Amino acid sequence: MYKKLYQHFLNANPGVQHYASHSHHYWPDVTREAMLEYWNDSAKFVDDKWNHIFGNKIPRTQKLIADILNLSHPEQIVFAPNTHEFVGRILSCFKPGKKIRILTTDSEFYSFDRQINRLIEEQIVEVVKVPTQPFEIFENRFKEHLKAQDWDLVFFSQVFFNSGFAIKDLVGIISQVTNPETIVVVDGYHAFMAMPTDLQAIENRIFYIAGSYKYAQGGEGACFMAVPKGTKLKPFNTGWFAGFSDLAGQGSQVVYSDDGYRFAGSTMDFSALYRLDASLSLFAEHNLSVEKIHQHVQALQKIFLSDIGQWTHPKYSKWLNEKNLLVHDLNHHGHFLTFEINSPEMTKSLHDAFYKAGIRTDYRGSRWRFGFGLYQDNHIDLTNLS
Ligand SMILES: Cc1ncc(COP(=O)(O)O)c(C=O)c1O
Repeated sequence: MYKKLYQHFLNANPGVQHYASHSHHYWPDVTREAMLEYWNDSAKFVDDKWNHIFGNKIPRTQKLIADILNLSHPEQIVFAPNTHEFVGRILSCFKPGKKIRILTTDSEFYSFDRQINRLIEEQIVEVVKVPTQPFEIFENRFKEHLKAQDWDLVFFSQVFFNSGFAIKDLVGIISQVTNPETIVVVDGYHAFMAMPTDLQAIENRIFYIAGSYKYAQGGEGACFMAVPKGTKLKPFNTGWFAGFSDLAGQGSQVVYSDDGYRFAGSTMDFSALYRLDASLSLFAEHNLSVEKIHQHVQALQKIFLSDIGQWTHPKYSKWLNEKNLLVHDLNHHGHFLTFEINSPEMTKSLHDAFYKAGIRTDYRGSRWRFGFGLYQDNHIDLTNLS
């Protein structure tokens, strides 16, 4: 139904069944024109390019994102090439020498987890990682930890990258953080443009991080963070984009922007932002809300489980079956299904066999992931598997 929006990527991959949209989403055709628009704007505006980008493009994209997340202050959204930059900048809000007490989970993406692990090695941070499993009682367990102690930083995902498990009661979790000084960060990368999300009730409390190269479909290089309005935090890691108002120079005093740009870095390639803007505009024009996209994917997930339920294959059906599905509640689930294979070697060999048969999937350790998107509307074809 929506395939016509993705002609370039589909034509470039004939015969491929792409079940990896949660990893590298196909880009809609409008993103190609957006690349050319960036080139043309660079040629046209030359020295005035930043005025054009900061005066027109950024506010436009901020508004599109704010509408999707129901945020009332689009100017609180700041862009960076990746989310790791935001992680580093948030961590740099704490005074050097202070041991930072962090509550997080055992299932955060590497951008955060690796960074934190390194800081643990240096004893700069004290971290409690709450296991996401058992999923059914994760939210209660996390809330208990929030109540039990005062934290400097709370960091967790809205949809977990290594399972697809999705938080149900985001607002309820956030309401357990009683100390206004606690910095609360939600990694929404696997939720933005996949799970219907309304941040209105918590927009002044949380930092919300997401990016473009998954469900927002603009490719790599355009991540964003929604910053709570009125924050007076002053990250040590600060780029000159965070102080535009002060470029004339105030001596040695570092002045920060009052909006989300107080968390900015510096010069980046904004062609990614052009693509993100084009793809979000496309969805807005086609009235393709996140709710509709989510419904489409939920329907595909059900068809897929029914397909593999009826399938028998001497080598593969003992691995790819509903019993091995990690998270069963499809009503609260991200856009990829995760199968627990229990052996990284076997998972890799399954991935490779499916790859050879033209079925693209991906895996993390022993977890095999199948993603679904708008450019799929059919049953999985398993006949090419040898
Ligand atoms: C949950 C989550 N957060 C963040 C990212 C991206 O991180 P970065 O932009 O630092 O590469 C990913 C990428 O897969 C992710 O799954």
